[in-house]
Amino acid sequence: MDEAPELYKLSSMTILGIETSCDETSASVVKDGTQVLCCIIASSRKDFEGKGGVIPEEAARRQVECILPVITRALETAHITVDDIDSIAVTKGPGLLGSLLVGTATARVLASIWKKPLIGVDHLLGHLDSIWLQSEGSDKSDPPMFPCLTLSVSGGHSDLRLRRSHTNNTLIGTTRDDAAGEAFDKGASLLGLSYPGGPALSKLAEGGNEHAFKFPSPLHQEETFDFSFSGLKTSLKYTLRDHPNLFEQEKKDLAASYQYAICKHLTDRIEHVVEKHSDIQEMHLVGGVSANTRLRSLLQESIYKKITIRWPATLRYCTDNAAMIAAAGYFLMQESPEKALESFVTEAALRC
Ligand code: KG4
Ligand code: ZN
Repeated sequence: MDEAPELYKLSSMTILGIETSCDETSASVVKDGTQVLCCIIASSRKDFEGKGGVIPEEAARRQVECILPVITRALETAHITVDDIDSIAVTKGPGLLGSLLVGTATARVLASIWKKPLIGVDHLLGHLDSIWLQSEGSDKSDPPMFPCLTLSVSGGHSDLRLRRSHTNNTLIGTTRDDAAGEAFDKGASLLGLSYPGGPALSKLAEGGNEHAFKFPSPLHQEETFDFSFSGLKTSLKYTLRDHPNLFEQEKKDLAASYQYAICKHLTDRIEHVVEKHSDIQEMHLVGGVSANTRLRSLLQESIYKKITIRWPATLRYCTDNAAMIAAAGYFLMQESPEKALESFVTEAALRC
């Protein structure tokens, strides 16, 4: 077998990340997995307001239109040329099939004509590594550490992972039904709020009394690190059925109580894991729901005395973005270059 090109052995690497797993089209240039030179995100979310969610075919059509302009803008904003890019990292899944195809097909073609190695990145790994992305002026002397506990909460997943390195993690808890973001989205829809529901629901909850309405504690009698959110959603549905004419303040109270129930369920589990695993150095909160300020404050109230808590440096790194894909691509190349390239080894790209 040929020796891996010298490039993979270098520690300094500039990666062009591409992310198109849902309704966003994003391209980002990241140096050494941490320094974001730019992160461009084009979203077709507005097109789906009032439609109850993303329409996959329409999302993919929009992505076909904007992927090349987004990549071009990313290179311009980062003030780099194609020659400055060492590798391309692209989300290979999971996600909407048509959307993923737009990103991977574009990345394959660019990798081939630009003669760059192509790294296939799991979207979830991107979220896990979003913690490593630095905001301008952040303290570089305080990098995240392993072993850490990561709660990954978004529209499609709610996972608790013990991570010993970027490529070594164990899933110790997951949702048995809806994902946390789904619980926010479905709750928001029941409350008559627009998609995506998380930000809308947490806005409505501002100024609400989170103890005004009682919600069940899911799985509270089980010795498990798993989650369950469907009971909370059903409880919200019945509360709304039984109280059809809520005043504005009561609606706020209900939104705050529902948000509290979701966040408390998540933080109770985390507290439990931290008690059981004394070797954990840090707690990382990632994914779209990590933008939720009540979840952050509740987490701080519950475990900040025991371990360091981190969430992505800016809100744009919480939700889907290409910077996290470039970061994950970088760490994959550092820890496991064969694995990073295996699913995307475009023979032609490597041979040229
Ligand atoms: O990570 P993400 O952008 O996409 C997926 O991979 O799913 O997460 C989107 C999810 C949506 O369910 C959205 O409602 C939720 O994250 N979300 C929030 C907030 N911002 C986004 N949930 C609660 N509070 C927020 N502030
Ligand atoms: Zn995501």
